[in-house]
Amino acid sequence: MQIINTPKSMQKIAESLRGKRKTIGLVPTMGALHEGHLSLIKRSAMENDITVVSIFVNPTQFGPNEDFARYPRAFKKDRLLAQKAGADFIFHPTASAMYPDNFQTFVIPDKIADKLEGAARPGHFKGVATICLKLFNIIKPHRAYFGQKDAQQLAVIRQMARDFNLDLKIVGCPIVRTRTGVALSSRHVYLSESELRKATVIHKALLAARKEINAGQRSISKLRKLMAEIIGSESGLYIEYISFNRWDNLEELRTLSGNTLISLVVRIGKVRLLDNTLIRIR
Ligand code: PAF
Repeated sequence: MQIINTPKSMQKIAESLRGKRKTIGLVPTMGALHEGHLSLIKRSAMENDITVVSIFVNPTQFGPNEDFARYPRAFKKDRLLAQKAGADFIFHPTASAMYPDNFQTFVIPDKIADKLEGAARPGHFKGVATICLKLFNIIKPHRAYFGQKDAQQLAVIRQMARDFNLDLKIVGCPIVRTRTGVALSSRHVYLSESELRKATVIHKALLAARKEINAGQRSISKLRKLMAEIIGSESGLYIEYISFNRWDNLEELRTLSGNTLISLVVRIGKVRLLDNTLIRIR
């Protein structure tokens, strides 16, 4: 496995691989790799000749009061984990290589990015879309792998790929959970054991909503109430939102039908935990 630090050298390698008709899979990450990331790397290694993992804590997707400075960075460990999971290259640039002085051009996703996480974190998806477009242009992947846990991120990137006619496939991959059901996140390092244990109610709430829907419940307010009660059974958890949206364009649903994303954010202290489930409603 090789580690590449500059966009120019990564681009050269990608061009040469494409010249040899090799398929390239990209797993974009900010490092602090966990089993969720590793599942994306393994999938990419199965589906492509070459897998590139990018590790870059992208400053433009963090708000001024967010955790950019203290975001977990564990390059040595990440490098071993990525290699073991099947990565052929790690692209690990510096911030100044990605955003040189006088950088001025950003991708600004429209309506799809102004709700849910976009409303809670203004400017977040502008940073995400911009860095992903840069990574796509540098690494030239045939496929790029994103976890379903960040469902809105996946929807925003899919929309960008359609809108900009990007010549690659965006592959959404299932959420990986702890044995107790908590959706894995690099931010778990901020939580104590007891906080992680309390967080299990988040998935329980989603499962309960699914069960009710399958039994015929179609009232969004009743489902929201049920989920809030389950989460409220643990102390110290604060619900930021529970939302029901159309999966393709993330429009908020007034009545339940079609492919639906149920997503929620629960805060424990300063840590925001995201989770969601997709359900087809007839
Ligand atoms: O999901 C992440 O880790 C980041 O948002 C991504 C896609 C690597 C862009 O910085």
